[in-house]
Amino acid sequence: MRLSPVPHFRGSFKLPGDKSISHRLALLGALADGQTRIDNFSSAGDCVSTLRCLQALGVGVETMGARVLVNGRGFEGLRAPQARLDAGNSGTTLRLLAGVLAACPFEATIAGDESLNRRPVERVAAPLRAMGAKARSNDGRPPLTLRGGDLQAIDWTLPVASAQVKSAVLLAGLRANGRTTVREPAPSRDHTERLLPAFGVDVERAGLAVSVEGGAWLRPVSFSVPGDVSSAAFLVVAALILPESEVRIDGVLLNPLRTAFLDVLWEMGAQIEVGLSAEAPEPVGFIVARSSRLGGAVVRPERVPALIDELPALAVAAACAEGEFVLSGAEELRVKESDRLAGLREGLSALGAEVEELPDGLCIRGGRPLHGALVRSHGDHRIAMALAVAALKASGETTLEGAEAAAVSFPEFFGLLRSGSDS
Ligand code: S3P
Repeated sequence: MRLSPVPHFRGSFKLPGDKSISHRLALLGALADGQTRIDNFSSAGDCVSTLRCLQALGVGVETMGARVLVNGRGFEGLRAPQARLDAGNSGTTLRLLAGVLAACPFEATIAGDESLNRRPVERVAAPLRAMGAKARSNDGRPPLTLRGGDLQAIDWTLPVASAQVKSAVLLAGLRANGRTTVREPAPSRDHTERLLPAFGVDVERAGLAVSVEGGAWLRPVSFSVPGDVSSAAFLVVAALILPESEVRIDGVLLNPLRTAFLDVLWEMGAQIEVGLSAEAPEPVGFIVARSSRLGGAVVRPERVPALIDELPALAVAAACAEGEFVLSGAEELRVKESDRLAGLREGLSALGAEVEELPDGLCIRGGRPLHGALVRSHGDHRIAMALAVAALKASGETTLEGAEAAAVSFPEFFGLLRSGSDS
């Protein structure tokens, strides 16, 4: 894809539903007894992967535009799949589904695309084994084969903060004998904890520990998914770094464990306003962002889980800021859809930014003028979108290899980028 610089970025947007919440609603809907109705379901390729896996497990799923109906019949309604389950590019599909399959008395294998098959799964296999499921990986990577059954509750401390692993253990815990507790080293997104009570399941939260009781019965829900805040991050940064720009995003998720990137942008001097229109079960509201003079920031390890997916967008803001941006404790970025520390260093450096790759982070000395170049997404949606936003600010034309990866989370991205640049 060829991208040219644009003079400004403006618009008012309402985004497709949040990807993390959509995955969870589909999975929990499949475990509930009856029909769950999900409106503004994510348009992300990743969430299509979750729906396909559920269908392969015998769950009735109907899609009508952005509305998805999931006809759940409880854990007992799930059937052994005829073939390997294909999670595509989606780590969330694979890891959350592993938690569900750990409780099912049949064998099932989950695999993914080339990128997903390189990502670690032992972190989820280990607690599920400790609960009594059989779990076999390919030397720590997918395909992951599970045979579940009688699970024992556990008290599990996560070595790395991961909402996916936390959620997998909690989902398995719904079917375990006793009370399952997961402890995190730092707070990660809490959508599973927030949504379970809507399905009628009690969740106890105490500091960094979360517990569920086994033997839960889930009732179906009707839920409209707030706009995806991780997608919003790219539009926000586009407005901040370009002159005479303003974006407004309504109906967007404002869960504090997803909006830490806004806090960092505020520290950098960004002109951003947010307002809440609802608080529970998920905070929702608007974000307005305007062209800003940005400075540097320091992002310390304890904040990383709450902005992990927004770091590519933040790195672009940092490259366009006057000052130093230092990120540490983000080694998890190396095991995302690609090695994001390496991909950001490569792409932003090619565009003229001064970026140093650290073992666990990045040091970006902002303010150098960006120029068009040949850059690569490495098949990673968030690297593709970050580099595309940076290209809007660069002089001359940029060629982005692998731009189509954006559809994994935000198929509308390039269309919205164009409309915001034209208005
Ligand atoms: C997600 C959790 C995070 C995040 C991913 C979505 C989720 O991954 O990076 O994009 O929906 O639970 P980890 O749990 O591996 O940190």
